[in-house]
Amino acid sequence: MKLDGKVAIITGASSGIGAETCKHFVIAGAHVAAVGRNLANLKQTAEACAKANPSSKCLLIQADITKDTQKIVNETIAEFGKIDILVNNAGITANGSILEADLQQLDNIFDTNFRSVFQLTKLVVPHLIKSKGNVVNVSSVAGLRSFPNFLSYCISKAALDQFTKCVALEMAPHGVRVNSVNPAMIVSNIYKKIGATDEEYAKILERSAPSHAMGRVGEVHEVAPAIVFLASDSASFITGTQFLVDGGKNCMCPR
Ligand SMILES: NC(=O)c1ccc[n+]([C@@H]2O[C@H](COP(=O)([O-])OP(=O)(O)OC[C@H]3O[C@@H](n4cnc5c(N)ncnc54)[C@H](OP(=O)(O)O)[C@@H]3O)[C@@H](O)[C@H]2O)c1
Repeated sequence: MKLDGKVAIITGASSGIGAETCKHFVIAGAHVAAVGRNLANLKQTAEACAKANPSSKCLLIQADITKDTQKIVNETIAEFGKIDILVNNAGITANGSILEADLQQLDNIFDTNFRSVFQLTKLVVPHLIKSKGNVVNVSSVAGLRSFPNFLSYCISKAALDQFTKCVALEMAPHGVRVNSVNPAMIVSNIYKKIGATDEEYAKILERSAPSHAMGRVGEVHEVAPAIVFLASDSASFITGTQFLVDGGKNCMCPR
C-alpha cells in the first residue's frame, strides 16, 4: 500500500492510534500534518516518523480540534500546498449511563468526537475535491453496537458513522471517498485520560479480552494499516464503509 507524495492531516497524532498512524503513513511515503494539543508528545511522534522514513515530512500542528480547525487547514496548506487525506482520529471517552451522564458530558464528547470532525471535514473537503482525495474517520465498534455505561461515547460514534455514510454519498460524484475504521478495545491512553490508573486499566483490558471473538484486545499497530489501506489507491472502489478492526467483537452475541 503506497501513499507516495500524499499529504495527510492526522488528528490525535500525539498518542495511541493517531501517533502509530503517522508512522505508518510516512513509511508508506506520505507527508503528515500531525495534530494534537500536547507538544511534547507530538515531538515524540515527529521523532518516530523521522526515524521510520527520513524523506517524509512531519509538520507538527499544536491545535485544539474543538477550536482551531481553520488553523489546522491554513498551516497544512502553507507547508504543503495541498491536502490529499484527512484522518479524523482525535477522540475522547467518558463513563456513565443515562442516570449519571449529563448534558455537559454529552456536549463535551460531541464537541471533540463529532462537531470538530464535521467542521474540519467541511474546511478540508474543497481541497480533497481538488486532489481527488479521501477521508478516514476513526470511529468505534461502539458506533455500531450498544454498550451500557458509555452512553455519550456510543452515540457520538453512531453519529460519526452516519456522517461517514452521508458525506460519502455527497462526495462520491466529486471523486472523494469517505470511510471509517471501527476498532474495538485497543491498548492506548484513552482510559488513562478519564482517570484510570495503570492497575485499573490493566483490569479493564483483562475484563474486555473475552468480549472479542479472538479472546484478546488489539494493539495500535493493528489499526494503523487499516487506515493506510482505506486512504490508499488500493481502496479505490471503497466508500461509505465501516471497516471493523475488532477481533470479531461486532459478531459476538451472548447465548
Ligand atoms: N483505544 C480504544 O480502545 C479505541 C477503540 C475504538 C475507537 N477508538 C478511537 O480511536 C481514536 C484515538 O483514540 P486512542 O485510543 O488512540 O486514544 P488516546 O491515546 O487517548 O489518543 C487520543 C488523541 O486524541 C487527541 N485529542 C483529544 N482531544 C483533542 C482535542 N480537543 N484537540 C486535539 N486533539 C485532541 C489527543 O491529543 P492531545 O492529548 O495532545 O490533545 C490524542 O492524541 C478516538 O477517536 C477513539 O474514540 C479507540
